[in-house]
Amino acid sequence: MSSIHKGLAGVVVDTTGVSMVNPDTNSLTYRGYPVQDLAGKCRFEEVAYLLWYGELPTPAQLAAQNEAERAHRALPRDLVLTLLSLPETAHPMDTLRTAVSVLGAHDPHEDDNGPEANRAKALRLFAALPAVVALTQRRRHGLLPLAPRDDLGYAENFLYMTLGEVPEPVIVRAFETSLVLYAEHSFNASTFTSRVVTSTLSDLYSAVTAAIGALKGPLHGGANEAVMATFEEIGTADNAEAWLTKALAEKRKIMGFGHRVYKKGDSRVPTMRLALQEIAELRAGHHLLDLYEALARAMHDAKGLHPNLDYPAGPAYHLIGFDTPVFTPIFVAARITGWTAHIAEQLADNSLIRPSSAYNGPTERVVGLVG
Ligand code: ACO
Repeated sequence: MSSIHKGLAGVVVDTTGVSMVNPDTNSLTYRGYPVQDLAGKCRFEEVAYLLWYGELPTPAQLAAQNEAERAHRALPRDLVLTLLSLPETAHPMDTLRTAVSVLGAHDPHEDDNGPEANRAKALRLFAALPAVVALTQRRRHGLLPLAPRDDLGYAENFLYMTLGEVPEPVIVRAFETSLVLYAEHSFNASTFTSRVVTSTLSDLYSAVTAAIGALKGPLHGGANEAVMATFEEIGTADNAEAWLTKALAEKRKIMGFGHRVYKKGDSRVPTMRLALQEIAELRAGHHLLDLYEALARAMHDAKGLHPNLDYPAGPAYHLIGFDTPVFTPIFVAARITGWTAHIAEQLADNSLIRPSSAYNGPTERVVGLVG
């Protein structure tokens, strides 16, 4: 039997120029730039441009992109009606997946896989997804959707449409940091899903819809929501150690810890941990920070495992005012940039992704009468 690479662990399936994850140095670069530098010095719109075009934008290029993005922030009326017709109990990731599907069905260029057409689609999804997240959260509170404001940057408008006001600059900046950190991470499960779908020469909306499905799972993006559920279950920092001992004895996976690639710590965590601290200081969230540290310490002592990005992002989103079920949709709104950069890269040098399997079912037999 040929060797099996369960979960494709350690298998290098292709090259990519979008980002580089280096587990030995705990580093992550987007198109060569360290992600911490991008988070500290760039707007999220600039990082999106970098992922799509390979270079940071000039002021004129950024202004042109911003104008196009602002023009596509509002959702088409038909889409709003479709989303409002979904059950109120629908998971926001289902709402988002539906929204992308509907936007595809309405796009007369859906099947045009040329680079320009796909860049236009990527920009439209980038512009529209915050409105879907905002509509979903507001509906949960019985509130009507708000029209986007084109006098605001991407992150400010995202927060305004969801929360009804633009929060303090520290909060905006911390939120934007999370978007930059979530934007891209090489061949993770959802990005690889988008590349598999693209490799069949299907359309960008189908690839993104499939990627949303992959990201929803708690072993991937769904972990940021699960972290919050864990924090609620533990309650306070002094319960963390006893809670963890019991959870590990029950063989539970502790959400927000561990990573397939980083075994010595997720390169994005220190930056997001700092952002969480800034939010906690403004929003009286020290109890969450204490719990964060207590559980991280206990997990390190018990299993030697480090937090991943979802661990600080969950409590940060909670303190900003997002409902837990929209945490993973926010991850989608950020990762749409990385996914669509990978879709373009896949199409530029496509080869159908179709691995092999080793059969372990019954040996060949003859069809006969049953009974
Ligand atoms: N809680 C408890 N034990 C864990 C955890 C965890 N979070 N993560 C890994 N382990 C243990 C496993 O049980 C296993 O132990 P064993 O060898 O005694 O059986 C060992 O560490 C290796 O773990 P694997 O699951 O084999 O590692 P893998 O690389 O396949 O998994 C994964 C990585 C899926 C992220 C895993 O660490 C996990 O389930 N974490 C929780 C979910 C999570 O936080 N996901 C977010 C990922 S990052 C992101 O999407 C931004």
